Amino acid sequence: MKVLRTPAEVHALRDELRKGTDTVGLVPTMGYLHEGHASLLKAARSDCDVVVMSLFVNPTQFRAGEDLSTYPRDEERDLTIAEGAGVDFVYAPVPDDVYPAGFATKVEVEGLTEVLCGSETSRGPGHFAGVTTIVSKLFNAVDPDFAYFGQKDAQQATVIRRMAEDLEFRTEIVVLPTVRERDGLAMSSRNAYLSPEARERATAIWASLLETEAVFAESGLEAALEAGRRHLELAGITPEYYEARYPGTLDPAEGDSDEPILVAVAANVDGTRLIDNILIEPPRTTRRTP
Ligand code: PAJ
Repeated sequence: MKVLRTPAEVHALRDELRKGTDTVGLVPTMGYLHEGHASLLKAARSDCDVVVMSLFVNPTQFRAGEDLSTYPRDEERDLTIAEGAGVDFVYAPVPDDVYPAGFATKVEVEGLTEVLCGSETSRGPGHFAGVTTIVSKLFNAVDPDFAYFGQKDAQQATVIRRMAEDLEFRTEIVVLPTVRERDGLAMSSRNAYLSPEARERATAIWASLLETEAVFAESGLEAALEAGRRHLELAGITPEYYEARYPGTLDPAEGDSDEPILVAVAANVDGTRLIDNILIEPPRTTRRTP
């Protein structure tokens, strides 16, 4: 495994890879790797000839007052995990090389980025502009055939798919299921912030989504969302949002169509912001009578 530090090194790799026919998979990460990241690396390893992982805590996707300065980092451990997962190249640049003096460009997806995590009362649309700008830069620098993302960040995946299509990136976006702890908590680098007490309470997030799924089949969408919110509140967690949306457009879900519904939640548990979601299949509305 080779570690590349500068854009020039990545461009040299891209030029080299372009000469051959090998397929290239990219897994963008901000490090502090866990099994969620590892599942993406594993998929890339089995699909592609060459696997590139980026490791960069991207400052432009953090709002002022968010956890940029305290975001957990452990490069040595990350490199060991990446190597174990069969990564060929890690691209780990420094912010000054990614955003040199004079940098002035933003890649912004409209609409999809203004709801859920993008709403003003959440991280704001600037968060996703930071994400799409860095992912565009990575796509241009590496020119991957496939890029891997997690369903854990469902809105991010939707926004990146939109961007890749709109800007004609020749990269196929692959989205893989959320990897969870044994008690259901979605794996996240930010789980490292949780005290044992908060860690215990955080299990209510996935439990609330399961509650919503169960109630939906019996009592419809509104009751299902109410049940989920109530479950969270009983655990002393007030969600930043707890909403049902259609996964492709992120339009509010009505609950009476045949489309799957994304129920997404963001919640602050003792100062740590956690997100999760579930995709709910609608109950079969057409029943054949014998
Ligand atoms: P990061 O939070 O490090 O996540 C990197 C990738 O791992 C994302 O695609 C994310 O959805 C996925 N991931 C995180 N937790 C997961 C889990 N429990 N199961 C499955 N996949 C999981 O997301 C980012 O970094 C950044 O925004 C990035 C795309 C790298 C741009 O800076």
